[in-house]
Amino acid sequence: IVPIIAIDGPSGVGKGTACGHLSTRLGFRLLDSGSLYRLVGLACEWDGVSLDDEVGCTAVAAALDASFEHAQGRLRVWMNAREVSAAIRTEKAGQDASKVAVIPGVRDALLDWQRHAAKWPGLVADGRDMGTVVFPDAGLKIFLDASTEERARRRHQQLLDGGQSVTLSAVLDEMRERDVRDRTREAAPLEAAQDAKVLDTSGLTLDAMLAKVDDWADQ
Ligand code: CDP
Repeated sequence: IVPIIAIDGPSGVGKGTACGHLSTRLGFRLLDSGSLYRLVGLACEWDGVSLDDEVGCTAVAAALDASFEHAQGRLRVWMNAREVSAAIRTEKAGQDASKVAVIPGVRDALLDWQRHAAKWPGLVADGRDMGTVVFPDAGLKIFLDASTEERARRRHQQLLDGGQSVTLSAVLDEMRERDVRDRTREAAPLEAAQDAKVLDTSGLTLDAMLAKVDDWADQ
């Protein structure tokens, strides 16, 4: 069986960094499951499907035509042959992703896609339900957490570095709203798997977090 490392947690907690680090170090493939929900949100916008139209969003998810390329630690994404790498990274795309992510049909439609990513020599899967739903048999499950304020600070810095102009308080508001939606939805709510190793990264430097994750991966 293909070795799988499932890393879950809320927005801005450092999952992306941890997953990128592990996949480079171990030579494993990388699944950024959040990008799939972001793509569904964007595809709904292109198709004029309202985000609360469950049947419409599910059909869009089932017909998703996307491709990914990892190069130099960067994920490039195309949908219907158009590059959407930047378009899916906006705060609006994150909000829209969390709206379509509450729809059970959308989640089901993306299951096969995600499971097919598990190929040799291994997979590092980044998301909200990697350890609970998508890869319940993963050999290592990690749940990263941190205070909302800390996560908002990190995400704000990331957006500024990426050339987007946003205020910290807007990022904080957006994050609170998305957290509530992700934690209270009925389908695959954000929570740690029972057998996950949980790490609160609030007071940790990036290097300290990566060292801990490396420890677990090497066990
Ligand atoms: O990086 P960030 O956490 O801001 O966003 P993301 O990981 O790309 O996820 C965007 C949204 O997709 C989340 O707020 C979740 O609502 C949803 N999502 C999900 O429901 N399940 C996943 N496995 C991944 C993302």
